[in-house]
Amino acid sequence: MLILRKISELRKFVEKQKADKKKVGFVPTMGALHRGHLSLISECKKNNPVTIASIFVNPQQFNDLSDYKKYPRTESADLKLFKEKGCTAVFCPDEKTIYPEPPLLKFSFGTLEQVMEGAHRPGHFNGVALVVSKLFNLVTPDTAYFGQKDLQQFLIIKKMVSDLGFNIKLNCCPIIRDKDGLALSSRNVLLSNDERKAAPELYKGLCNARNLLMKGQSISQAKKTVQGIFRNHSFIRLQYFEIADHKTLAEVKNLNDHENVALCIAAFLGKVRLIDNVFLKM
Ligand code: PAF
Repeated sequence: MLILRKISELRKFVEKQKADKKKVGFVPTMGALHRGHLSLISECKKNNPVTIASIFVNPQQFNDLSDYKKYPRTESADLKLFKEKGCTAVFCPDEKTIYPEPPLLKFSFGTLEQVMEGAHRPGHFNGVALVVSKLFNLVTPDTAYFGQKDLQQFLIIKKMVSDLGFNIKLNCCPIIRDKDGLALSSRNVLLSNDERKAAPELYKGLCNARNLLMKGQSISQAKKTVQGIFRNHSFIRLQYFEIADHKTLAEVKNLNDHENVALCIAAFLGKVRLIDNVFLKM
């Protein structure tokens, strides 16, 4: 497995693959790998003879400096895992390589970013779009792979790809969960024992609401039930629970008006912020 740190090395490697007419799949990450990331690599390898991953903790997408500082950085363990999984190459740039100067470009995603993560993390999706567009320009993959856990991120990247005319297919891969239901996240390692024990309640809350909706309860009743579960919880502070159209993220008022809907949750466990979602129709 090649470890590429410079843009010139990456470009040379990609040019060779294209000259050899090999399809290139791309899995961008911020490292601190878990089985969720590795499932993206497996999916990528199924359809591409060349799998490029990247590791870059992107400062531009952190609206909270302490979150950026404490984000787990485990590069040598990550490289080992990528190698075991059969990645062809990993791009590991430093900050100056990606941002030789502070970027001035600003993205705007309208209503798609005015809810949920976008509403609670100002500037987050601008930072995501900056880095992903840059990585797409450098890697020029045929297909890129992202996780459904970051559903809003996926929809925003999809819009960016369409608006900017990138010739890249996008693949949204299922959420990978621990046995107790907790969605895998690089931030899970930051949870205390008590927080980790409480964390699966986010998924349980989502499943509970989905069951209620499937049994015909109203949207406001399902929302009240989930909000009730977390009211006065010792370890979980609910930030939002939304029932949104799975493509536009518009608030759902009547289930019959939508092909599918996503139930999305964000909560703080101590200082750790976790998100999760489920679709109503699986
Ligand atoms: O989902 C992530 O890990 C990041 O947001 C991404 C897509 C690698 C961009 O930094």
